[in-house]
Amino acid sequence: MCGIVGYTGQCDAVETLLNGLKRLEYRGYDSAGIAVTNEQSGLQMLKTAGTVDTLEEKIQREWPTSPDQRFTSGIGHTRWATHGAPSDINAHPHLDGSGHIAVVHNGIIENHKDIHSHLEELGHTFSSETDTEVLAHLIQECYEGELLQAVCAALQKVEGAYGIAVLTDYEPEKLIVARHGSPIVLGVNDNAAMVASDAPALVTFTRRVIYLQDNDVAVVQPNDITIRNVNNVPVRREISHLDWDVTAAQKGGYEHFMLKEIYEQPESLQNTVGGRLDWDLGTAVLAGLNVTPRDIADIQRVILLACGTSLHAGLVGSFYLQDIADIPAQAEQAGEFRYRNPIITTDDLVVAVSQSGETADTLAAVREAKHKGALVSGICNVVGSSIARETERGVYLHAGPEIGVASTKAFTSQVAVMLMLALKMGRCRRLSRRHGDALCRAISTIPEAIQAVVEKDREIAEVAQKFKDLRSCFYIGRGYAYPVALEGALKLKEISYLHAEGYHAAELKHGPIALLQEDVPVVAIMTDMPGKEKTVSNVRECQARYSPVLGVRTEGDEDTADIADYEISLPDVSHYISPITTTVALQLFAYHVARLRGCDIDKPRNLAKSVTVE
Ligand code: G6P
Repeated sequence: MCGIVGYTGQCDAVETLLNGLKRLEYRGYDSAGIAVTNEQSGLQMLKTAGTVDTLEEKIQREWPTSPDQRFTSGIGHTRWATHGAPSDINAHPHLDGSGHIAVVHNGIIENHKDIHSHLEELGHTFSSETDTEVLAHLIQECYEGELLQAVCAALQKVEGAYGIAVLTDYEPEKLIVARHGSPIVLGVNDNAAMVASDAPALVTFTRRVIYLQDNDVAVVQPNDITIRNVNNVPVRREISHLDWDVTAAQKGGYEHFMLKEIYEQPESLQNTVGGRLDWDLGTAVLAGLNVTPRDIADIQRVILLACGTSLHAGLVGSFYLQDIADIPAQAEQAGEFRYRNPIITTDDLVVAVSQSGETADTLAAVREAKHKGALVSGICNVVGSSIARETERGVYLHAGPEIGVASTKAFTSQVAVMLMLALKMGRCRRLSRRHGDALCRAISTIPEAIQAVVEKDREIAEVAQKFKDLRSCFYIGRGYAYPVALEGALKLKEISYLHAEGYHAAELKHGPIALLQEDVPVVAIMTDMPGKEKTVSNVRECQARYSPVLGVRTEGDEDTADIADYEISLPDVSHYISPITTTVALQLFAYHVARLRGCDIDKPRNLAKSVTVE
C-alpha cells in the first residue's frame, strides 16, 4: 500500500530518499515524509499531507541546503491512509516520545489499541491517530541502549502485518528494517545501502538486492548487512540480481505510466509467451509450474483466486480451462474465500493470480488452500514476491514493472499465461495435437495483434471525445467478452471516476435496463466469437431505450457492421485471443476519457497499486 525507502552511506540522504520516494509514489500518494540524521545534527524530520512533490517543496523551504549539514542516513515514506485521515500529523515517519527514534511502516498493527492503552498508562502521549506512532513508542519503551534489541523486543509484542524501517540518532549509521507480511527489499552497494518496500525504488542505486522473508530483521549499515529473525537467530538470505531495465521504471517520454504500459504490451506479451511454446508437441512449456502429466491428469478442478483486475483475468482463465482443458474451473474473490469455509480437496489445483504477489486477501486465500491440502500455484509478475514464494510453484508474467495504478499490461500477460496453462493442461488430457498446434499458432500472434490495436490509439481517442461527459454507463458482453466488460468498466471508473458497470449482456434485462436512457451509453463487446449475435440483439434493446451504443467489433465482420452508434473495429483474431485485443482497446478508451476529463491518471484518488491490508 504505502512506499518505504531508507538509505545509509556517504551521499546526500535527503536527495536519495526523495528520488526513491518518487519511484514509489504509485504505492500511495496522500502524504509523505522523511527523517534523516548524521553524526552531529540529531534526528530531523519533515512530513506533509500531499505528494512527494509537496514534500520536496517543503524541504526546499524549510531546510535550506548547507554544506556543513549533510545528512547521510534516513528513512522516507509515501502513504495510502489506513489509520487516520491523510494529514501532516498522520504522515510517516512517526517519532517515539523522546524524538530520537523514527519509524516508517506499511501494513496494520492489529493490537495497536491494547498497546496504546498500555503505553498511555506508562505515561506516553500520542499526537497522531496511527498505529505506527504506537509502534515507535513501543520501541522506545523496549530500548535498553541498542536499537536492534529494542525493535526485536517490540515486534515480539506486535500482532498484524508490517514492513518497517527504523532510524535513531543514537546509532546514526544504521537502519533497522523488518518484515512480516509486507515486503522489504535491501539494495547492496559499495559503501552504501538502501532499503525499500519495492524494487523500483532501488533500480538506479543497485542491481544487487536481498528480499527479506517474513519475521526477518536486518541491521543495515553502509558496509555491512546482517539479517536475523525476531528471536535474534542469524539467517542467510541470497543476493538476487534485479534484471529490470532502469527505463522500465521511468515514463520514457509518455505522458503517463499507464499509457506507456498500454503501449508496451506487444513487448510485454512477447516476453510472457516467448520461449514457452513447444511446437513439436503442440503445447506450452511452463517449467515453474512443476507438475507432471500424471499430476495434471489427477486434477479434478481448478480454482483461480484473485482480486480486482487479476480476478477478471482469472475469470477469463476459468473459461479457457473449461473450454480447452476440459476441466471444471472457477474464479473466486480471494477476499471472501477463506471466510466461507471453502470445500477444497487434494485433487484441486488452486491458482493465485496477482500482479504484485503481495495482495493481502490473495495471500491469505493461498494459505487457506495450502492448509486444506490443495496443490497451490501462483501467477505473479513481481519475482520473489510473497505469493510467488508461498506457492513455491507457478508462472511468472515477465511483463516488467507495472507502475500505473490501473493495471494494464499485467492483465494481458495474466490472460496469456492462463491460455498457455489451459493449453498445457489440455494437452495432458484430451486436447488433440491438431488443436494444440492451432493454439500455439494463435498464441504466437498475440504481440502482433496487440501492436495493431495500439496503432488504433488516435481513432480510439476520437471516440473517447464523444463519451467524456457521460455520467454513467454499462459495458456488456457474453462468453469471453463478459470478463472483458467487467475489466473495461473497472478501468473507466478507476481513472475517470465515472460510474461504469460491467454486466453479462444477458443480465442487462434483469434490472440495469431500467437505467438506460439518452445519457447512459452502453459499450457492447461484440467481436466475432460465439454468442455475438445475441449481444447484437441486446444492443438493439439498448438502442430502443435511446442509449447510445459504442460497439467493439471485428473489422470486416458484416454481422456487426452499421449496428452501433459509434464503433471501435479491431483486427480479426481467434476468439481465444480476443479478450486480450478487446481489453487493450478498452484500456485506451478509458485512458483517453480520463485524460480528456483532466484526471490524475497515474495517481487515481483513493486507489493503491498493491493492497496489503484486508
Ligand atoms: C489493487 C490494484 C488493482 C489490482 C488489485 C489486485 O486494487 O489497484 O489494479 O488489480 O489490487 O492486485 P494484484 O497485485 O494482486 O494483482
